[in-house]
Amino acid sequence: MKIARFSRVGFILAAAGSAVGLGNIWKFPYITGENGGGAFVLVYLVTVLMVGFSIMIAEMLIGYLGRRDGVGSFEAIAPRNKDLWKYAGFMGLAGLFIMVFYSVVIGWIFHYIVVTFTGLPSSVSEAETLFNTMLKEDISTQLFYHTVAFLLITSIVTRGIKGGIERLNLFLMPILFLIVGGMFLYALTLDGFSQAWAFMFEPDWSKLDSDSFVTAVGHAFFTLSLGMGAILTYSASLPKNSDLVKSALIVVALDTGIALVSGLMLFTFLFQYGAEPSAGPGLVFISLPAVFYEMGALGNFFALMFFIALAFAGLTSAVSLVEPMVQYLIDRFNMSRFKASLSMGLFFYLFGIVALLSNTTEFSEALTFGSKNFFDWVDFLTASIMLPLGGLIMAIFVGHVMEKERLESVLRPHFGPFFDLWYFSLRYIAPIALFVVMLNLIGVLEL
Ligand code: PFF
Repeated sequence: MKIARFSRVGFILAAAGSAVGLGNIWKFPYITGENGGGAFVLVYLVTVLMVGFSIMIAEMLIGYLGRRDGVGSFEAIAPRNKDLWKYAGFMGLAGLFIMVFYSVVIGWIFHYIVVTFTGLPSSVSEAETLFNTMLKEDISTQLFYHTVAFLLITSIVTRGIKGGIERLNLFLMPILFLIVGGMFLYALTLDGFSQAWAFMFEPDWSKLDSDSFVTAVGHAFFTLSLGMGAILTYSASLPKNSDLVKSALIVVALDTGIALVSGLMLFTFLFQYGAEPSAGPGLVFISLPAVFYEMGALGNFFALMFFIALAFAGLTSAVSLVEPMVQYLIDRFNMSRFKASLSMGLFFYLFGIVALLSNTTEFSEALTFGSKNFFDWVDFLTASIMLPLGGLIMAIFVGHVMEKERLESVLRPHFGPFFDLWYFSLRYIAPIALFVVMLNLIGVLEL
């Protein structure tokens, strides 16, 4: 089968585009705020370094050697039990589940881009009303922007790896880096910066319970786009003789860098203007707009830039969430790219409507199951369960099932002596860490 190839830069930007997403700019700051700051950040960073990086290389390798969609790649390179291992490729379904809430949030961002023109809320309480009215009452606004997000994302995926995904990333990612970098430089000049630094890097271990531990590890997977085959699917289109080690290093560094930089920037603004860091999912939609209002004309400009950056980050990740299953349909059933993109798009669009409704006053009761509504369940099941589970399966597959010589021949030339360290971490550290998370989950879920 023919798969269009990325250029080298195209691949790095597309993989970084997948990793750098709402997870970095929207989710990371608010979960850091909710979980008390420093200690949480430390667990997240350690997981990224010790587990995330190893699994990133493993996931790249599966796609790079398999040269097909997730299902086909597992099947092609499994040395035995091919019929069983191919099911591991179905973890790509997690991407569509993530899209169920991801597309709704991208819709909120589009709405807020418009709000920066029509007038920012002038106080936190006004901002709260604005956000909560949209979230709980205003079904038509959310539906409208969710539809725009669906149409945009689906039409990009329809254009394929080169004409759609690579072009999108080549264009949007540099702008995103410029915006976040520029705003960070400004934040550096404010007094609130030292407070933000202390909040993010001085650990207070009393704030870390098993719940936040699971969240931190789950987030490391989510933010690096690991465990569901997005990186795998992109890697199937890598040029020959690629240096996977270098690519993984750059992607992990960019993703972690953007998360830390946007966290520091946001908390600086919040502390500078006396807002609360623990506001939850509404942090960037409630506290931040009110802070931007306080900053005057510059704030208005920042607000616009910020929401544009957030939209770009969201879109470049969204296409990577849809692509694995689209590629599967094309490879397996010879479906046209248009049909495959549209059917996967419709899947997340329709369930996205259910997610959106589950936040509204009118439907929340009917769409709440146990402790969470539908929207929160999808977020929790994907980030905290499916991605770590997918990562565990990949670690076992590459670390214990594939022949070591095969891995060595691809990776040793680039890793040098560090190959053994990587192999050890993939075989033992990553599975054990993931297993502990799974055990912890039992506590979190009160099973
Ligand atoms: N990494 C993206 C983010 O941080 O928002 C989300 C994501 C994209 C998760 C692709 C998983 C994935 F396969």
